[in-house]
Parts: sequence; structure tokens; C-alpha cells
Amino acid sequence: MKRRVAILISGRGSNMAALIQAAAAQEFPAEIAVVISNRGDAAGLERARASGIPAVTIESGPFGKDRAAFEAVLQAALDQHKIDLICLAGFMRLFTAEFVQRWQGRMLNIHPSLLPSFPGLEPQAQALRAGVKISGATVHFVTAETDAGPILMQGAVTVRDDDTPDILAERILAIEHRIYPEALRLVAAGRVRLEGDICKTAGIAGCDDGLVSPAVT
Ligand code: GRF
Repeated sequence: MKRRVAILISGRGSNMAALIQAAAAQEFPAEIAVVISNRGDAAGLERARASGIPAVTIESGPFGKDRAAFEAVLQAALDQHKIDLICLAGFMRLFTAEFVQRWQGRMLNIHPSLLPSFPGLEPQAQALRAGVKISGATVHFVTAETDAGPILMQGAVTVRDDDTPDILAERILAIEHRIYPEALRLVAAGRVRLEGDICKTAGIAGCDDGLVSPAVT
């Protein structure tokens, strides 16, 4: 039985598209059952529908600061679609501790930095200001603290002297599109185990050739 996934978006939905594409494969252990946006103008909605995925809007604006009321409507939609797992993909709204608790171990997020470095807004600009030579992206389980939570998978990219936040973001985005589907695959296939706050993935190691930056040739 494939795990049923809801992708939550607020914007263009490029990670959503990468997840939809990966999940279209017969052997992928999850199916994208619904895409939910908290903004009616999210470009990702049309992209989802073009792929034949049901896409719905639950406008969060009218709920103002009443997060619980928004989440009650969201939860009803998740129940209706019999959702097992949630993937946040550029979803720009914080959850209550209750909602996070309810989905503990079943809600994933992607963040464009190597967490725990540079959580929060504009992580690419934060990375450039810090002068790091390697940055990347992180898929993690969602916990009550923003951009924290057990790390499932990371992908690294080099940072170059002449990078702008936009250029670095583009390079990181390409690695996001690689790791998010793979992280979902591991979770949906039951290959991720939590030891305290640490994710273990059944002995699956990363590629071992390393990344050096700047690389002297
Ligand atoms: C991505 O950079 C993701 O890491 C961050 O928000 C951005 C969403 O982009 N959480 P997209 O909507 O998936 O194109």
C-alpha cells in the first residue's frame, strides 16, 4: 500500500513538482493525494492540476492569528484525503504545537541551508554573510521549533565568491529537487528510524567522494 501524501505550498511549487514527478513512478512507495495551498494565487496550484493532482486552497489570511481555526479546516481536508504523510514545500505559515504534535514523525519540511546553520528567513543571504564555502539543503521532520527537528537528508553545494543570494538559491534549489523525493521515499518505505532526535536510515550511506570548496586544481 502506497502512503498517501499531502503537499502544502504557498508559492511556485518547484519542490512540489519534483515530488509529484518522482511519485509518478510505479515503484515509488508514496502517492501525492492532494496539494493544499494557503494562498489562492500560488502558482503551484495550476502546476499540480496540470499533473492531474487535486489541488485545493484554504486561505489562511481570513483566519488572522487564529492558527488553530485554520488548522481545523486543514485537518478536515487531510482527513478527507486519508493522508498519512505531509510534505511542506515552501509553506509559509507556522503551526501550533498541537498540530505539530499530531503529525510528529509524519510531517517533513525542506529548508535551503545545511541546518542547524541558517534557520529562518533568507538562509542563502545568511550563508553569504557568514562566508561559508559550502551550503546546501536539508530535509527534516517538523518539530515545534522552526527549521529544527530530526534531519533526514542533506545535500551540499559550493558557495562561490561572486554568488548573490539569488544565484546561490538557484544552485541550492537544484539539490533540493534531488533530495526531497529521496527523503520521502525513505520515510514512506519505512526505512527511517528515530533514535532520540537522530534519524538513522538503515545503514544507507552518502556518496563518499567529499566536497571541497574552493577546490584548488
Ligand atoms: C524552497 O527553497 C524551500 O527550501 C523553501 O521554500 C522554497 C520553496 O520553493 N522552504 P518552491 O515553492 O518549492 O519552488
